Amino acid sequence: MSDISQARLTPTTRAGSRKVFIKTYGCQMNVYDSQRMGDALANGGYVATETMEDADLILLNTCHIREKAAEKIYSELGRIRDMKAERALEGRDMRVAVAGCVAQAEGEEIIARAPVVDLVIGPQTYHRLPEALARVDKGERVIETDYAVEDKFEHLPRAAKKDIRARGVTAFLTVQEGCDKFCTFCVVPYTRGAEVSRPFAQILDEARQLAEAGVREVTLLGQNVNAWHGKDPTGKSIGLGGLLFALAEIPGLKRLRYTTSHPRDMDDALIAAHRDLPALMPYLHLPVQSGSDAILKAMNRRHSAADYLRLIDRIRTARSDIALSGDFIVGFPGESEADFEATMQLVSDVDYASAFSFKYSARPGTPGAALSDHVSEAVKSERLARLQALLRRQQQAFSESLVGQSLSVLIEKPGRRPGQIVGRSPYLQPVVMRQGVGAIGDIVTVEIANSVANSLIAEGAMHLEPTGMVA
Ligand code: SAH
Ligand code: SF4
Ligand code: F3S
Repeated sequence: MSDISQARLTPTTRAGSRKVFIKTYGCQMNVYDSQRMGDALANGGYVATETMEDADLILLNTCHIREKAAEKIYSELGRIRDMKAERALEGRDMRVAVAGCVAQAEGEEIIARAPVVDLVIGPQTYHRLPEALARVDKGERVIETDYAVEDKFEHLPRAAKKDIRARGVTAFLTVQEGCDKFCTFCVVPYTRGAEVSRPFAQILDEARQLAEAGVREVTLLGQNVNAWHGKDPTGKSIGLGGLLFALAEIPGLKRLRYTTSHPRDMDDALIAAHRDLPALMPYLHLPVQSGSDAILKAMNRRHSAADYLRLIDRIRTARSDIALSGDFIVGFPGESEADFEATMQLVSDVDYASAFSFKYSARPGTPGAALSDHVSEAVKSERLARLQALLRRQQQAFSESLVGQSLSVLIEKPGRRPGQIVGRSPYLQPVVMRQGVGAIGDIVTVEIANSVANSLIAEGAMHLEPTGMVA
């Protein structure tokens, strides 16, 4: 990539040597989408660059989930405008495209507010990216945000083996997109559209291709991944549990994960997969958002706190060593101190290994934004601090409970210091190990000596002789 000379970056450059810089915000699905857009652009002759200043095309893949996430995009576009102006003085051109959930939600507004933007493209139309860029080349400003009728995954090109390898031994694979749940705080049903499951055969094919290129761990993605449903080759209707059983048969795929799940869609077959599939990692992200039944109802989560706790019991009965993670929102409209205490109580009852927590952010067009009784920023901040302190204590206690235990670790990459190598525990924690325990892509069993910040340190890893080698 770095062997493309400066001279070939001028606007007169042939399409065959243009450079694209892709910046990804938001969830893992955006990471996956950025890779697939990168694949589509590679097919059209673009090469990836790691530096924005170098790029002939800047592609921002955006997130709309909270106000801050969306506003970040406009400040980034301000910086890009200045960069583009500087480049214009040098006689060089640069295209700017905005993809993702902000593109879908605010397409017209982006075009009006940010003249620097040449193309706005929503998540359902990424397969049309090369064609849309061709229109931009002809001088058009393009907005492509219709929900496409054709299957975008069918039309997006596959990644080249060398690109899969370059991305490492773990990979994301989107199996389901969109959401029909309409939680009253959430923009996803509007930005990603209705729930759609990719067909069984398409998923199996892509997973096989990943495994053949050296991928050892696949994380299945969906906004509501456990709502995935399809038909197996015999025509039998199956859910995510059935899909996981089929994926576990693929040679080379040693570890499986999935995210994000809704408590209402954790069915018996999926719980059975946790019991019966060694490849399915004992780590589950199962957001609950609040521990108060009144708030859960106002959020339209369609389950109670007790339903959630019963579900956790069933999952733990099936797989006793499972570690749990969750998402929480504090300060949803109408949340009283007692409602918040109910959330703290639920967190204490569940005992999370890790979690994400956020202040409620009113999103235009969602039912939550229209509610009265909004909670003040000061109260939200104070509650978030209390919740995060509790969650941090739980996370630390979980990490410390692993010290002295043997864990299986998938080796992912060289460490930051010479002589170190880093992998992931079954619970997604980075594990720092001594180089030589195995090669990248190997799964090794190591004893945990220590836990530091968010990482685990394997026995021997910190007592290294200086090797003079650069890892
Ligand atoms: N599909 C997933 C998560 C979607 S968004 C699920 O159903 O859980 C990821 C997380 O962002 C959510 O779980 C929620 O905790 C948070 N979130 C979503 N909308 C939000 C909003 N308006 N304000 C604050 N946090 C929000
Ligand atoms: Fe948003 Fe709720 Fe759907 Fe999750 S389940 S994506 S929080 S609407
Ligand atoms: Fe953000 Fe869209 Fe993902 S709003 S969290 S990028 S689905």
